[in-house]
Amino acid sequence: MSDDLEILRQDVLSELAGAADMRAWDAVRVGTLGKSGRLTALLKALGKMEPEERKVRGVALNRLRDDLTRAIESRGQALEAAALEARLVAERVDVTLPPPAQVQGAIHPISRAMEEMTAIFGAMGFSVAEGPDIETDWHNFSALNTPAHHPARTDHDTFYLPPVPGLDVARVLRTQTSGVQIRTMLSQKPPFRVICPGRTYRADHDATHSPMFHQCEGLVVGKGVTLGHLKGCLIEFLRVFFDKPDLPVRFRSSYFPFTEPSMEVDIGWSRRTGEIGGGEDWLEVLGSGMVHARVLANCGLDPREWQGFAFGMGIERLAMLKNGIPDLRSFYESDIRWLRHYGSDPLAPALLHEGV
Ligand code: DAH
Repeated sequence: MSDDLEILRQDVLSELAGAADMRAWDAVRVGTLGKSGRLTALLKALGKMEPEERKVRGVALNRLRDDLTRAIESRGQALEAAALEARLVAERVDVTLPPPAQVQGAIHPISRAMEEMTAIFGAMGFSVAEGPDIETDWHNFSALNTPAHHPARTDHDTFYLPPVPGLDVARVLRTQTSGVQIRTMLSQKPPFRVICPGRTYRADHDATHSPMFHQCEGLVVGKGVTLGHLKGCLIEFLRVFFDKPDLPVRFRSSYFPFTEPSMEVDIGWSRRTGEIGGGEDWLEVLGSGMVHARVLANCGLDPREWQGFAFGMGIERLAMLKNGIPDLRSFYESDIRWLRHYGSDPLAPALLHEGV
């Protein structure tokens, strides 16, 4: 091979070796094999040569082109692999990293209680349904058999939203999660079992009432659903939630517009010591009943074909009882010391088989 070709080979090989990234590599490639690359220029010059000379030179040039093409390709692959390797190292997420020695933060007892309720009812085949905090007056009251001027409406100290011009529906901050019953019956085909944990609002503020609080609604609709199912379901829930297999539970007849019959549910406790399950007193913990035929009909379900039971409970109330939290207002004060005391481990989710 003539000297100039050997020099070109050495030049290109050393430039390739020195190319540290794909951009430098591409500059060598274009400078060699590109339209005005050095090798391309030599190949073009062949045309002007005498046939004899061209033959010899042509063979050498072709060999050089093959060699350099291969060298450029393999350097390109090596650089690409190195770039990928560097990215993998730089972007590595070590999922095996241990948590910090001291876990930061804690799960708020309201979130925890919701997780526990979801775990318990989840094991009974319930799924979680959701609805909006800003609810129509119809979903919050009328469809639940509480029409305008019904006395039960005044119990709720409702926050009404200002009317929207052109919008012919009254809107409220939902006073109860019961509207989700309506939304579920309208959007799903029975049979179903749902719970709806969520925020609710009433214009009420003192040591035992907050303008914003949480409820967990429950609804079961199916064929042949009876009061016996309601009782079994709620007794089981309360005993697991409070971790007391023999917790006394009492059903007391009551009134809600959307259920018939309606029952309030009490658990045994001691007024003197505050102990759940012990003592001679009763404490009301939730409301329940068989879904009123009119509510089923409002949602297009034939009450002769479908039956259901429903219940609603205050999440703060249950969390206070379970954790011995004395003051409702403390839930919302964002006091980090309080949260450290009553909060739970964020790395230990509510699992039924561990006892919630
Ligand atoms: N919505 C009721 C309240 O806020 C609670 C309730 C009672 C819900 C009975 C129900 C029920 O679904 O059946 O006081």
